[in-house]
Amino acid sequence: MLVIIISGILTTLLFFRSLDSNVTRKLSEDGSYIYTAFDSASWAITSRSLSPILGIDKQSLYDNYVVQCNEAITKENDDKGKTTAPDVCTVMDESRLKMNANQPKSVFNYTKDGYTKTRVPSDLFDLIKEFFNKNRHLAKIEWQSHTVYHNAWIAPPTMVGLNKDKTLINQIQEQIKPILEEWTGQHLSPVSTYGIRMYHNGSILAPHVDRMPLVASVIIQVDQDVDEPWPLEVYGHDDKATNITMEPGDMVLYESHSVIHGRPFPMIGNFFANCFIHFEPYAPLEGEAHDPNSDIPPYIVKDSVWENEWKIANPDGWKFVSIVLPFFLCSKFYDDDFKTLVEYGNVIKVEALFRDNPDLVHEKDENGWTCIHEASRGGHLEMVELILKHGVDKDLLTKTGVTPLNIALAFLEVDHKLIEFFNDIGAKDIGRSKKQEL
Ligand SMILES: *[C@@H]1O[C@H](CO)[C@@H](O)[C@H](O)[C@H]1NC(C)=O
Ligand SMILES: *[C@@H]1O[C@H](CO)[C@@H](O)[C@H](O)[C@H]1NC(C)=O
Ligand SMILES: *[C@@H]1O[C@H](CO)[C@@H](O)[C@H](O)[C@H]1NC(C)=O
Ligand SMILES: *[C@@H]1O[C@H](CO)[C@@H](O)[C@H](O)[C@H]1NC(C)=O
Repeated sequence: MLVIIISGILTTLLFFRSLDSNVTRKLSEDGSYIYTAFDSASWAITSRSLSPILGIDKQSLYDNYVVQCNEAITKENDDKGKTTAPDVCTVMDESRLKMNANQPKSVFNYTKDGYTKTRVPSDLFDLIKEFFNKNRHLAKIEWQSHTVYHNAWIAPPTMVGLNKDKTLINQIQEQIKPILEEWTGQHLSPVSTYGIRMYHNGSILAPHVDRMPLVASVIIQVDQDVDEPWPLEVYGHDDKATNITMEPGDMVLYESHSVIHGRPFPMIGNFFANCFIHFEPYAPLEGEAHDPNSDIPPYIVKDSVWENEWKIANPDGWKFVSIVLPFFLCSKFYDDDFKTLVEYGNVIKVEALFRDNPDLVHEKDENGWTCIHEASRGGHLEMVELILKHGVDKDLLTKTGVTPLNIALAFLEVDHKLIEFFNDIGAKDIGRSKKQEL
């Protein structure tokens, strides 16, 4: 018995020692601490034991949080007549820790630090602020059930939904997308912009990484009424914990799939309003596109720890995210993304798009170009074949009256296989094949 107790104590000591050895802290010139460890600056990050450097208070804040979460979920389920495992939240938190430990090292990063703070373009900020002021009285409780990510049992966040204002969503995405694309060097497709979340007094947001395809993200600080700053704590690619304090009109760009982020200290004040915008990268702005035959997305490292987890969660393989969210299909961002895919000759993804949205194949831009014209310009034979299979006329005219073959003749070498193919199927040449004649 004694042996068991002693060995238990030893194990515990060793465990803390080994954690401790990876955490260092030094005082910076402005009197604040700089943490040089990946783990546990303020909260349990990859293991449930916080570094002893942080003192007992932080550990008990975290431990109590999980206990309260277990109680809150048990009560919530009791009310619905369901029984719950008493450690339901502890188990949920294990998966948060596991994700924090494994996902960042299994993904590609696009920037040096993984985060940066800048200002929201002022005209856009005015629109968001105006919307918020007009609609904040409509805020509704955001989550219907508790999770370990937020202490909603103390201060449930409320949400001012944007769904009713598609124009505003479009304006937000239209302005944020190029900023994030320049920052990441990637073509981005919108995943979600769902509204303005209001956190209330006592809120804690547990540090986490986002579930993919939430990869390139932005937090806009819309408004706040707090007694002291409530920083966003991030673990950048340098493995350092850093606090970012935000004022209304600020925005933080961050790689939310690899940068662990949270607000692991209780908010003190009235409210704090954030708008979140998420994008998925699918091809670099310059250079080689992602292998179209790959069934994992371009941001996952092959043979990494998390690749398999991703495959289990996505048994159908990688599909361009806009398919999953038909809401975006008709927006012009989507058109841009779609055109880029066609230009890349990314046949498999486009096939999935066509299957799910048969009308896409006929969609025209302002010059009357559809995807057959884009694919002809790019010289993508397989893509043209695919488009024809979906019932598109091989001689479909643009607004200026030229055919796909003319476009191919204008942009491609005369012996290109696509031109040969067009000739074989008897495609029409209306005799205008210089770029300026198109
Ligand atoms: C501490 O760092 C070493 C080397 O980087 C690593 O092998 C070990 O697992 C880390 N310990 C903990 C508790 O994270
Ligand atoms: C991306 O950054 C994380 C840390 O945030 C790091 O663990 C990982 O190795 C990086 N990925 C690559 C492919 O270098
Ligand atoms: C961030 O700020 C909180 C609250 O002031 C503090 O407890 C924490 O140690 C800070 N984290 C870092 C990495 O400086
Ligand atoms: C926030 O909660 C604390 C106690 O937890 C209380 O002292 C304070 O007055 C509250 N602030 C507001 C703005 O409600």
